[in-house]
Amino acid sequence: MLGAAAAHARPGLSFVHGDIATWTSVADHDLVLAAASLQWVPDHPGVLARWAGALRPGGQLAVQVPANAHMPAHTVAAELAETEPFLSAFGPDGPPPDPVLCNVLEPEQYSQLVHQLGFERQHVRLVVYPHVLPTSRHVVDWVRGTMLTRFEQRLPPELFRVFVAEYEVALLDVIGRHSPHFFPFRRILLWGRFP
Ligand SMILES: C[S@@+](CC[C@H](N)C(=O)[O-])C[C@H]1O[C@@H](n2cnc3c(N)ncnc32)[C@H](O)[C@@H]1O
Repeated sequence: MLGAAAAHARPGLSFVHGDIATWTSVADHDLVLAAASLQWVPDHPGVLARWAGALRPGGQLAVQVPANAHMPAHTVAAELAETEPFLSAFGPDGPPPDPVLCNVLEPEQYSQLVHQLGFERQHVRLVVYPHVLPTSRHVVDWVRGTMLTRFEQRLPPELFRVFVAEYEVALLDVIGRHSPHFFPFRRILLWGRFP
């Protein structure tokens, strides 16, 4: 993504590599925006406090996180990871936990955090995006580059291929085999502006 973004760099617009979990600055930013990334890191009260610390007076915080850990696309993968041969392959630490389940807070918790951080105005919303996919099988493609990557990182390539194949069958048994397939996707949008 950074490679592709580099082509758009110009005076006043640059792209740098960094870790959003630790990033902050000295009250010199107008806007901190994070789209579909905060869910990857833990301790949202700490992270949002560091991001708020980067904003100058009147500055805005705008964040979007998925809130879909309860959906079959996530729960079926977590249940499959608890079965053999995958469970043994993960070793003594067990299957990797779902970052959305572990890290993402409830909308009202974000609302309280935004208030406690001193934002004068706020909107915190739970939004359902109504995606219509060509077939139910496309849900697998959707999560292949996000939710499934934690299994890819921990399994040998051949076993990961088996995991994805079994995941597809188990998922379709739960969500059905439709064409087109309606795929509701819950996200939390939070916004705040400093006085
Ligand atoms: C679903 S993508 C969203 C990208 C972009 N914000 C968008 O809306 O298209 C999530 C991105 O977060 C990045 N990411 C995950 N953990 C990160 C971290 N700790 N620090 C910086 N980026 C991270 C991933 O590399 C990935 O590019």
